[in-house]
Amino acid sequence: MNEQQKKQMTINLEPSSADKKSGQKKDYGVYFQTTFTQPSLKEAKRRGKEDVQVHYDFDIPEDMRGLGKGRKFLVRTYGCQMNEHDSENMAGILLDMGFEPTTQTEEADVILLNTCAIRENAENKVFGEIGHLKPLKTEKPGLIIGVCGCMSQEESVVNKILKKHQHVDLIFGTHNIHRLPFLLKDAIFNKEMVIEVWSKEGDIIENMPRARRGQLQGWVNIMYGCDKFCTYCIVPYTRGKERSRLPEDIIAEVRDLARLGYKEITLLGQNVNAYGKDFDDMNYGLGDLMDEIRKIDIPRIRFTTSHPRDFDDRLIEVLAKGGNLVEHIHLPVQSGNTEILKLMARKYTREQYIELANKIKEKIPNSTLTTDIIVGFPNETEEQFADTLSLMKEMEFDSAYTYIYSPREGTPAAGMEDNVPLEVKRDRLQRLNDVINELSALKNKQLEGKIVEVLVEGESKKNPEILSGRTRTNKMVNFAGDKSIIGEIVYVKIIEAKTWSLNGQVVENVEVKV
Ligand code: 5AD
Ligand code: SF4
Repeated sequence: MNEQQKKQMTINLEPSSADKKSGQKKDYGVYFQTTFTQPSLKEAKRRGKEDVQVHYDFDIPEDMRGLGKGRKFLVRTYGCQMNEHDSENMAGILLDMGFEPTTQTEEADVILLNTCAIRENAENKVFGEIGHLKPLKTEKPGLIIGVCGCMSQEESVVNKILKKHQHVDLIFGTHNIHRLPFLLKDAIFNKEMVIEVWSKEGDIIENMPRARRGQLQGWVNIMYGCDKFCTYCIVPYTRGKERSRLPEDIIAEVRDLARLGYKEITLLGQNVNAYGKDFDDMNYGLGDLMDEIRKIDIPRIRFTTSHPRDFDDRLIEVLAKGGNLVEHIHLPVQSGNTEILKLMARKYTREQYIELANKIKEKIPNSTLTTDIIVGFPNETEEQFADTLSLMKEMEFDSAYTYIYSPREGTPAAGMEDNVPLEVKRDRLQRLNDVINELSALKNKQLEGKIVEVLVEGESKKNPEILSGRTRTNKMVNFAGDKSIIGEIVYVKIIEAKTWSLNGQVVENVEVKV
């Protein structure tokens, strides 16, 4: 935490009467200067050299512990797994403050929207939800509506909320989740909009409470932030610079999850294989970390999301050891055309990506690759898009997340002129999805008759008589079975392949596995 943040934190804990007096009532009804910290994308872009401290002394003051008594909370999560992870921290803090969870919007006394800024439609969804909550707030003035997550880190979003959504009570960002008890207390008692968003990342807080959503699959964050600055992406601004957690803290968390009976963990980071690059006193990367974690008695270990540029030989060598390290690698390529990759600042060529992907396939037996693609980057030509289509076929990805490019304010790409009409972008997305669906169906077809290992997650969403789970390579499998096997690892023979899922039958004696 820098000096300014420290000062702000002290002031914020207990606004003195002098502060209260001098805290001018600001435009839009915000009282205390001290609780009004606006984000700045420009500021967020700076990458300082200052040391990141690790803290193990998170605590909720006694007077805030009872604040939630008789009150209910709901945290609604948008976007990626990192947000899911952060929501688990928020829920943990709220439980420790005495709040009870609810899934019913009407019942909640505190509603937190943990938002995503990655594309415009993600933001529109949140603004829609903020609008929907207005009548509830009018009906129930004591309701606290909070907006947090990546959108809060954007100045334009905070300004829009200030101007158009005065019924929001609290705005905080991705770097100060640990401040939730103080900010919530302020929001409850001051009855004025409380805004505290740190543009610069703070320290790592290790011991925040955590209410995990499941008892089977757990998220383990291993690093924060991203320094890659791909030209289209807002994440380096909303999540700050790369900061890795210490290996011993991560290993202790995974051991805990193993003791609690978790069957699968996913190591998380916005740019997960840059893990360790910020340690200046040791040479220790994701490969080294996974080599230690694989010795822990937990059946499956995944990681997401990796950047091709940081996928080193040490990581491949460790993943090739298999065991609980699953052979599914999500390796976003974004485009199959070298010129577009250059404009995106991805720092690899089409050929380098292919070389890496082939190395992974060769060294890691039975591995499946999935990817992310953006179509319609500014001025993308039909020929450049055709390179993306041909790469899909050449690499035979098992599946891909595909997106139309969405300009994000403050990023370099948002300043590029763009001559590609939206209909053309939509058409490219459709054509890309057709190719990917064909590939997925083909890949799934190859599994017919094979026996796969499945972690049984629960009842199928479409049919409660059917169970569903995932293979090591993250494919969804549906099959009939007794509910008692939920949470177990079973073997299933694939009977029928569909485009996005597989149907099968549980088998007892297994010799061949995939
Ligand atoms: N527009 C469209 N897609 C984007 N992504 C990131 N930023 C943008 C953007 N501005 C996609 C990338 C990334 C995934 C998480 O979201 O494909 O890998
Ligand atoms: Fe965004 Fe991922 Fe690029 Fe980081 S590596 S800037 S999170 S797309």
